[in-house]
Amino acid sequence: MDMAFLESSIGVEDLVLLEPLEEESLLKNLQLRYENKEIYTYIGNVLVSVNPYQELSIYGPEFIAKYRDYTFYELKPHIYALANVAYQSLRDQDRDQCILITGESGAGKTEASKLVMSYVAAVCGKGEQVNSVKEQLLQSNPVLEAFGNAKTIRNNNSSRFGKYMDIEFDFKGSPLGGDITNYLLEKSRVVKQLEGERNFHIFYQLLAGADAQLLKALKLERDSSGYTYLNREAPRVDGMDDASNFKALQGAMIVIGFSEEEFRQVLEVTAMVLKLGNVELADEFQANGVPASGIRDGRGVQEIGELVGLNSVELERALCSRTMETAKEKVVTALSVIQAQYARDALAKNIYSRLFNWIVTRINESIKVDTGEKRKVMGVLDIYGFEILEDNSFEQFVINYCNEKLQQVFIELTLKEEQEEYKREGIPWTKVDYFDNGVICDLIEHNQRGILAMLDEECLRPGVVSDSTFLAKLNQLFSKHEHYESKVTQNAQRQYDHSMGLGCFRICHYAGKVTYNVNSFIDKNNDLLFRDLSQAMWKARHPLLRSLFPEGDPKQASLKRPPTAGAQFKSSVAILMKNLYSKNPNYIRCIKPNEHQRRAQFSSALVAVQARYLGLLENVRVRRAGYAYRQAYGAFLERYRLLSRSTWPRWNGGEREGVEKVLGDLSMSSEELAFGKTKIFIRSPKTLFYLEEQRRLRLHQLATLIQKMYRGWRCRIHYQLMRKSQILISSWFRGNMQKKRYEKMKASALLIQAFVRGWKARKNYRKYFRSGAALTLANFIYRSIARKFLLRLKDNLPSTSILDKTWPAAPYKYFSTANHELQKLFYRWKCKKFRDRLSPKQVETLREKLCASELFKGKKASYPQSVPIPFHGDYIGLQRNPKLQQLKGGEEGPVLVAETVMKVNRGNGKTSSRILLLTKGHVIITDTKNSQAKTVIALDSVAGVSVTSFKDGLFSLHLSEISSVGSKGDFLLVSEHVVELLTKMYRAVLDATQRQLPVTVTEEFSVRFKESSVAVKVIQGPGGGGKRKLSCKKKGSRCLEVTVQ
Ligand SMILES: Nc1ncnc2c1ncn2[C@@H]1O[C@H](COP(=O)(O)OP(=O)(O)O)[C@@H](O)[C@H]1O
Ligand SMILES: [Mg+2]
Repeated sequence: MDMAFLESSIGVEDLVLLEPLEEESLLKNLQLRYENKEIYTYIGNVLVSVNPYQELSIYGPEFIAKYRDYTFYELKPHIYALANVAYQSLRDQDRDQCILITGESGAGKTEASKLVMSYVAAVCGKGEQVNSVKEQLLQSNPVLEAFGNAKTIRNNNSSRFGKYMDIEFDFKGSPLGGDITNYLLEKSRVVKQLEGERNFHIFYQLLAGADAQLLKALKLERDSSGYTYLNREAPRVDGMDDASNFKALQGAMIVIGFSEEEFRQVLEVTAMVLKLGNVELADEFQANGVPASGIRDGRGVQEIGELVGLNSVELERALCSRTMETAKEKVVTALSVIQAQYARDALAKNIYSRLFNWIVTRINESIKVDTGEKRKVMGVLDIYGFEILEDNSFEQFVINYCNEKLQQVFIELTLKEEQEEYKREGIPWTKVDYFDNGVICDLIEHNQRGILAMLDEECLRPGVVSDSTFLAKLNQLFSKHEHYESKVTQNAQRQYDHSMGLGCFRICHYAGKVTYNVNSFIDKNNDLLFRDLSQAMWKARHPLLRSLFPEGDPKQASLKRPPTAGAQFKSSVAILMKNLYSKNPNYIRCIKPNEHQRRAQFSSALVAVQARYLGLLENVRVRRAGYAYRQAYGAFLERYRLLSRSTWPRWNGGEREGVEKVLGDLSMSSEELAFGKTKIFIRSPKTLFYLEEQRRLRLHQLATLIQKMYRGWRCRIHYQLMRKSQILISSWFRGNMQKKRYEKMKASALLIQAFVRGWKARKNYRKYFRSGAALTLANFIYRSIARKFLLRLKDNLPSTSILDKTWPAAPYKYFSTANHELQKLFYRWKCKKFRDRLSPKQVETLREKLCASELFKGKKASYPQSVPIPFHGDYIGLQRNPKLQQLKGGEEGPVLVAETVMKVNRGNGKTSSRILLLTKGHVIITDTKNSQAKTVIALDSVAGVSVTSFKDGLFSLHLSEISSVGSKGDFLLVSEHVVELLTKMYRAVLDATQRQLPVTVTEEFSVRFKESSVAVKVIQGPGGGGKRKLSCKKKGSRCLEVTVQ
């Protein structure tokens, strides 16, 4: 095993490793470590702690965090490591734990218990509920310390009571609550303290810390020197601030759950105790001369009465007299001053100790666990240490008895039981001797022959009883006992010892000899309070005070005496022992390095004594020879079988073989192991830690394996589910699709079927039905509508006048084409009728008109005006004028046109009128005056005509050059009826020569004139052409400009 971790250590951290193993080296080692501020040392799993008497920076959250993560041997020895082992074992292995803290007064037990508690509080569960439980548990300390601790010579903060606290946890290791048991408060301190010591802290805290108002209400003075019960010499303790501790106390009580009212009542009772001490008693004499007592100054009693609601007269009577009650009568006797003082002090002590018990009960109420679930328990025992004072009394006797019992637990569990086990298990073993203090315990507690039994016997015995009769009895009984000494037994053995007084006996405790003074043993054991006092207290209106004295209720009064203090203590110690034996013990052995509470001072002699009686050396020897760890094969195999392939996951062989297999596979050295009959023994804790570490690693592996399997399983399941789902979905989808398709096909098939069936049926049934009835009907209807339409049309035909273009609208849209056609037809028919009625002359006239239209329509501006005017032809009255008829000469046929025209002189543009005649063959132009001078132009020599597009009547008659008249050149004429004239001329030319006369509509044309030609240019005048007025202007010789107005 590697010990590298020890190399940097000072001395040895575990005394088991000490070489050579002797008392001297053990002390040296402790001293060396102590001087280097290493106050903790192990003996295996036992922690030895040497009080440093100075603040060391090895506590607090940082260190807690460190120790919680490491195993016992990985870090320096520390109380946290021990607390951690205990807590983890409680949490993980479900073993109830107890932490036994032993040592002399001032060795550091209370501090150790607080460190353990704060460690456990820090590492156990978190959460609001848990935190409040923790807070309550932790805050119980300052409250109990205020009321139960005091400065002693040995310890400024000495616990004057024993305390055993069970902290209860749930299965997860979270604290649920707790339970405190207190043992025998040193109540004599209330009324008297040794030199240099103090009363309980609370009195000083109250006086220093309460504000003026509170003090006044409690009827107290701030100055502590005014109180008889407070030691005048030592009101202050170095490094202790009573005032601020009072504030802390108040805070703590509130956290625990005390109400303001309860807090106040507690203070009132405390104040009452303090004030009781100041009640001075004075001698008085009764009439018969018997000494009696009275209150010297009534004010104190008065104030007490006011404070707790008590009649001061009654209180005085209770203090100064005593009622003896027998079955038959009541006798009141006066008390002497001494007796009255005794009664007063007894009352003060009783009130205070009952108040203390009440406070513990009240705290327990708050921290009690009320859920019924299964709990795990960690007990922390901080009991007053072994005490050897100058003058030892009943209290020390009881305290030392208790320590004796605790030592026995230690011996039983670590020395005796262990060695016996090796023997039982057949492990080769050389016995280590140790001192078994069973005999001393017996001496004290034996039911018939123990000192406590004797004391009880004396207390109950009728007749004269005193402390000396008790001592005599002891001397008689234990004269031969090797642990009992007294003056008498010494005398018998002819020894002489100055230190042994007459009224004393001595017990050789495991931790040393202690001489006890029997004085007041009987009294203290009886622990009786005069009934007058308890009854007076019960009458108080103060609810708390009253509740402390239930036996004061006259109805409850019983003559049966309560168990003695010794008997009570014995039974509560017995309960405690039973409790401790049922749990897994963890030891803290506190050692006081010097008597002066001084830092860095190591008194070897003093430590040697402690080391001796604590049996440290024996402890180391047993430890070293023995085995650190043992467990039944079954349990061991169960825990570690996962470390070997042969035992994991199944092992069918025997348990022992299984364990051998596991350890064999791990190739453990045989020195480290021993196989007992039923158990396996492992020598060093390192081996165990190694096993634990292996197990932890293996658990990780297994956890990973389980995780792996689980994840795989989960994924597989998930996958399968997905697959199943997918198949389901796709099957549904496909099904659905097919269904839809099928439905569509079915619908189509049905449709086709329906058609086919219909068709077949129709075919079949055609013979039974008139086929095409609908068509016939439709036709019929259509026809009837058409008939109706036509008949109505017939009745509403418009007039036959061709100018009438009206036509009735079609009644239905589908007739509109027909209607339109009918309209056109009707119109044509009207026209035909019209034409049929015309005479040949009219026809001729219309033909001429038609010809005119063909020639001029759209070309000449004067054409439209000519349309309605019939062509007269004769405008000069030729028919009636024979003279004019001559102008025609010999020409056959009728004169087509006779009219007066203007001839434009081509030379100068001047006009002169002429008569123009058109016949079927010629154009004859004559002078109106001189009818002889006429020009006859044969129609076939007319080459063409030019007219203007305007409304004027100007036209040019172009003659072909070869004609006879042609030589004169073309004619430029103006006619009133130019359209008619030219139309007729055109027709005449067509008739005569089968030639179409070219009629040119133009604004510019040239007129031939003799050999040359003149260009005629016609322009529209500004007049817009109302009258056909012409003005011709010659422009140069070759140009004639005609302006049409
Ligand atoms: N671990 C420690 N660190 C510092 N001081 C300590 C330690 N343990 C004890 N002391 C000092 O010793 C004094 C007495 O310790 P305490 O626990 O009250 O003794 P016990 O309860 O054994 O009588 C404390 O008031 C404190 O000053
Ligand atoms: Mg203490």
